[in-house]
Amino acid sequence: MGIFRPGRLRAVLSATAALILICTFYLYLTPPPVSTVPSTAFEVPLTERQTAFWKVLRSILDANPPNCPSPTLRAPVSAIHFNATTLDPRPDLILLGNNEIEAMEAAHANYLNALKTAKKLRPVHSPGTRGLVTTAGGSYLPVFLSSLRMLRRTGSTLPVEVYMKDASEYEKRICEDVLPDMGARCLILSDVVGKDVIQHYQLKVFAVLFSSFEEVVWMDADCFPLDKPEILLNHEPFTSTGLVTWPDFWASSVSPVYYNISQQSMPPMTERQSSETGIFLVSKKTHYYTMLLAAYYNYYGPSHYFRLLSQGAPGEGDKETFLQAATAVGGSFYAVSERVQALGHHKPDGLSGSAMAQSDPIGDYALTSQGKWRVQDPSVDQPPRVFFIHANYPKFNPAENVFGANWETAPTLRPDGTEGRAWTAPDDVLRRFGQDIEKAYWEEIKWVSCNSEIEFRTWEGKKGVCEKVESYWNTVFAEPHEDDPKFVEG
Ligand SMILES: *[C@@H]1O[C@H](CO)[C@@H](O)[C@H](O)[C@H]1NC(C)=O
Ligand SMILES: *[C@@H]1O[C@H](CO)[C@@H](O)[C@H](O)[C@H]1NC(C)=O
Repeated sequence: MGIFRPGRLRAVLSATAALILICTFYLYLTPPPVSTVPSTAFEVPLTERQTAFWKVLRSILDANPPNCPSPTLRAPVSAIHFNATTLDPRPDLILLGNNEIEAMEAAHANYLNALKTAKKLRPVHSPGTRGLVTTAGGSYLPVFLSSLRMLRRTGSTLPVEVYMKDASEYEKRICEDVLPDMGARCLILSDVVGKDVIQHYQLKVFAVLFSSFEEVVWMDADCFPLDKPEILLNHEPFTSTGLVTWPDFWASSVSPVYYNISQQSMPPMTERQSSETGIFLVSKKTHYYTMLLAAYYNYYGPSHYFRLLSQGAPGEGDKETFLQAATAVGGSFYAVSERVQALGHHKPDGLSGSAMAQSDPIGDYALTSQGKWRVQDPSVDQPPRVFFIHANYPKFNPAENVFGANWETAPTLRPDGTEGRAWTAPDDVLRRFGQDIEKAYWEEIKWVSCNSEIEFRTWEGKKGVCEKVESYWNTVFAEPHEDDPKFVEG
């Protein structure tokens, strides 16, 4: 009941304050209304809570800078695939003197102490709530809308908060006419933190912290689930750990120096993969300090922590901040061990990937809790089902690169130049879908592209988007085809 403090109740004497309390109470007792927009009265308490929270958090962040120049690298880490039995040492390429390490260690410890003693740092979320949080703006907004349709297709009723960097990304018609009917609403981060304080690549942790939900399913705009994500919140491993992350292809490349700075022991390279944070699950009830420390790693990410946590490996950015923050504060977590799978189609020199398939943590946990680690030996048991797809490269935006003249970059083209499915390999991964998910995804892309109510700012002046999608649909999906995945009855 974090929002009902005796001091606050005592202060409720004026009619204005009473109204705020009623609104707060309303928010506390009911899931966030799905059909409101940021300017309505019920939003005021959330915005107030966000502003008060940010004022305190920012002062603590600013009071504890790393106090040393940005670390530099002898050379960037190369892309090394995770190997669960490797004897290789952890890459150690950061150039940072002992004085600098000590300065960063002191600042890190002071930050955590300051959080724990801060009297006015109250969580933004309403206890007992859960929902899905994402960021989308510009050319990500059409991609997000297809993902949202896929989410609703599973039967999920999770409310959705879409954070936008600033007002320039807010699209009135989408945010006020389209999304509310689909249980989603737009929130503008710069309204709370000010303009240009947080950049796109730092948005994730702040969107999660500012969200009104206590239990959060994070999904990048280009990710979608194959089943209701709320199932994952109701079961192990989430129920006992409160933080579930998914793996990247690559080995961890967190610098040894980071473990000194954060005063934790260094895990062996075989323990787990690096993280792919297109999706994660977090409870701010159990992982409040994890997320606040992750905020520190992101706030000082571009200058210090992104480099320390990845050493220039592929995707260097916020991806390692969440799990490492959890271990640094001694928080529990479950890192899905089943390998992420690239999804694509064959081309002359191998698989042309345009998406990643991530597994069901419930099934993964069922295996690992019996000591069965498929990541070491895939023959120990069948893999868990696929739960999420991260359609990340290129984005499946029908007004952009998903179509094109060049089969090497357009996933909708086969090497002979004809149109085909993007995801026809590997066979064993497709079988784990249990449904024709690519056809379903294109059904939603078609709905988004051909709905006359929907106009995206980035599609202005682009002609024939719907016609192009319909023509692709008719060629590839309307009739059974030799490329169709095996489980689909012809
Ligand atoms: C993984 O590491 C082990 C131990 O060093 C090595 O024998 C094996 O070949 C490696 N596997 C791959 C796929 O590199
Ligand atoms: C970092 O920690 C390791 C292991 O505890 C220790 O051996 C090493 O001396 C520390 N380095 C610095 C610079 O403090």
